[in-house]
Amino acid sequence: MPDLKIIKDFPDDFTFGVATSSYQIEGNSFGNSGLSHWDCFSKIKGNVYNNESGKIACAHILNYKEDIKLISEAGFSAYRFSFSWPRILPDGKGRINQDGISFYDKLIDEILENNLKTFSTLYHWDLPKNFMSQGGWKNRDTTKWFADFTDVIMRNFSDRLHSIATINEPWCVSWLSHYLGEHAPGEVTIEAGVKTMHMILVAHAEALQVIRSHNYKNVGIVLNKQFVQPFDEKSETLKVTNLADEIHNLWFDEAIFKGSYPTQTIKLFSKYMPDNFEEDLKFISQPLDWVGVNYYTRSIIKVDKSETFLGYKSVKGDLIVTDMGWEVFPEGLKNLIERLHNKYSKNVPIFITENGMANRDCLKNGKINDFERIKFYSDHLKQCKNLIENDIPLKGYFAWSLLDNFEWAYGYSKRFGIVYVDFDNLERIPKLSWKEFKKNLTNKEN
Ligand code: FCB
Repeated sequence: MPDLKIIKDFPDDFTFGVATSSYQIEGNSFGNSGLSHWDCFSKIKGNVYNNESGKIACAHILNYKEDIKLISEAGFSAYRFSFSWPRILPDGKGRINQDGISFYDKLIDEILENNLKTFSTLYHWDLPKNFMSQGGWKNRDTTKWFADFTDVIMRNFSDRLHSIATINEPWCVSWLSHYLGEHAPGEVTIEAGVKTMHMILVAHAEALQVIRSHNYKNVGIVLNKQFVQPFDEKSETLKVTNLADEIHNLWFDEAIFKGSYPTQTIKLFSKYMPDNFEEDLKFISQPLDWVGVNYYTRSIIKVDKSETFLGYKSVKGDLIVTDMGWEVFPEGLKNLIERLHNKYSKNVPIFITENGMANRDCLKNGKINDFERIKFYSDHLKQCKNLIENDIPLKGYFAWSLLDNFEWAYGYSKRFGIVYVDFDNLERIPKLSWKEFKKNLTNKEN
């Protein structure tokens, strides 16, 4: 039987938490929220499984007290959540929605009353719809409007935020959403992909500057990393594997920690980069207080000339896969964090801000026995423990996710929660993995 006894071997000051994001759980139709580009993207047939959307999601807006209780009862000490930009500024700028402010006021107070640390994220993908017609993240103005939104957050909430992340997963915001087209706004051009790879980092820097102007300390960014491996040892394969590694991982590490872009990629991208992009790099590489890493899987890179711009595609390996079809590869987490620490972030504290798996969870006699998920967590925590033993400043681990939720293009078909959600009546049912966390975090039997 897999278990999470390993939790007891972590240092006392190590933070265990759970993560969620606004659009995936809140229910965008509640509380006079404005619309985001996900509302528009999900309306177009074929973009999201079953034409689902985040309109209702887990109705966290109505159930947040119960949800926060589930976190504290399991013995976690932190909650990572995100602010919805259109919930606070329905048009993206200008008019403030007081219902939105009051929701986050109540949410934050509830988190604090439950003795949880507030790990907040400013942008977990709900770009106000209003900006879509103006180019969205391709438009430099959006980075300024993001700065203004950041200021609203700082003025209202910063005294109660333990930490702030500017952007969740800049690679997903840019490449996945503007070149691969899998996420909102679903663009598929080189120009859009390359431009947003830069602009999202400018947005990060703009927000950081506003946050610092409020004398706030404890700000970071959350990067999603994928462990990239070559399909074979041919030199051509190694070359494109390096390119894939740069685009997925090193683009962000180098820009943020060194103020430069990796050579192979910038050569390929240069013709599409915004004018004078070099001038932004110093701004982008302002010091951070911590860096977050979201880790799920590896990818295997194979030369493929039918991909005419990049010259490669990722192919399936032979490891066990989760319900997302993602291979389970815990060693990748260790390797990526070691490289981040040794070559880039140095002494900056690192948090695993997301890690988890989708599983085909079934409710049987009122129970969900998600053994696979417990094993997944245990195997990845082993790698974390090893990193700490090797003096890497790894300070916390957040399970993705508290609840089954709107898994973007997969709608509600993929269950990542340690708590099951019945999407017919929105009942929450803790899974065995939740109970196993509780057992080891609180030392209490259930
Ligand atoms: C990450 C996202 C998160 C969730 C997980 C499965 O890329 O940050 O919202 O969808 O993947």
